[in-house]
Amino acid sequence: MKVIWNSKLVEREDVKIDMEDRGYQFADGLYEVIRVYNGILFTATQHVERLFTGAKKIELILPFTKEELIQLLKELIQENQIETGNIYLQVTRGVSSPRNHAYPEAEFTTPIFTATTTIVPRNLKMMKNGIKVITLPDMRWLHCDIKSISLLGNIMAKHEAHKKGKDEAILYRGNDVTECSASNISIIKNNILYTHPDGNLILPGITKAVILETARKTGMIVKEETFSLKELKEADEVFASSTTMEAMPVVEIDNELVGDGKRGPVVQLLQELYVAQIESECGLIH
Ligand SMILES: Cc1ncc(COP(=O)(O)O)c(C=O)c1O
Repeated sequence: MKVIWNSKLVEREDVKIDMEDRGYQFADGLYEVIRVYNGILFTATQHVERLFTGAKKIELILPFTKEELIQLLKELIQENQIETGNIYLQVTRGVSSPRNHAYPEAEFTTPIFTATTTIVPRNLKMMKNGIKVITLPDMRWLHCDIKSISLLGNIMAKHEAHKKGKDEAILYRGNDVTECSASNISIIKNNILYTHPDGNLILPGITKAVILETARKTGMIVKEETFSLKELKEADEVFASSTTMEAMPVVEIDNELVGDGKRGPVVQLLQELYVAQIESECGLIH
């Protein structure tokens, strides 16, 4: 399988990244994960838009236009013949030597861009049976809207969940539930969908945005409002959402069942609406 290194498709062994790359030394960079269905990128425009928004926030001048980037990603998918899978892409600020915290002047560094593909089928069993999660204090920084490659806070939370034999960690600040270690979180109470509003405390998830839009179109009431840990635990249904998980039922939180411990009807409907959205962009997926 080929990878992208800057603007070229190359063999992975041929990629050479300097040990003083700021991504390696400072996690000074951004990433995206984009899903591919039927060999077609899903919601590519939104992902690329978020990358450009993040780049602006950290004053990183990207070495391509949005159109050039999408074109490059399409070439990689075609080259690697990815039907159902993921593209992981990241861009760092590049090399600054000697090591120095301050951003170097843009004209003295070249951002480094890489992308890889993996074949990943949809996890239909998990989407039906749901996941089990723990809750943890949100120990991350206050720029969670930036999809930074600096993910220590997130991976430590995921690791805690895995150590307890669970799939994901739902995070909270004070009393408010924010998001999960690698996904957004929403609850259903009395047929109303509640999810944390976008802002600096969560990543503005693209999957969440698609789900909220399709939910609103059906007439469902959607409230982008904070909810508490207590409300989370008393919800009728709970689901996590991300590019790779789509809308994922949460059936157990901190060893207690959510409802009857099975995927509920609202989440099932949201999953069906999400599939319809995928199919409208990428063609039939089953
Ligand atoms: C912390 C966090 N929140 C939310 C999401 C969901 O974002 P998206 O739906 O754009 O994949 C992710 C995905 O990686 C994430 O890492």
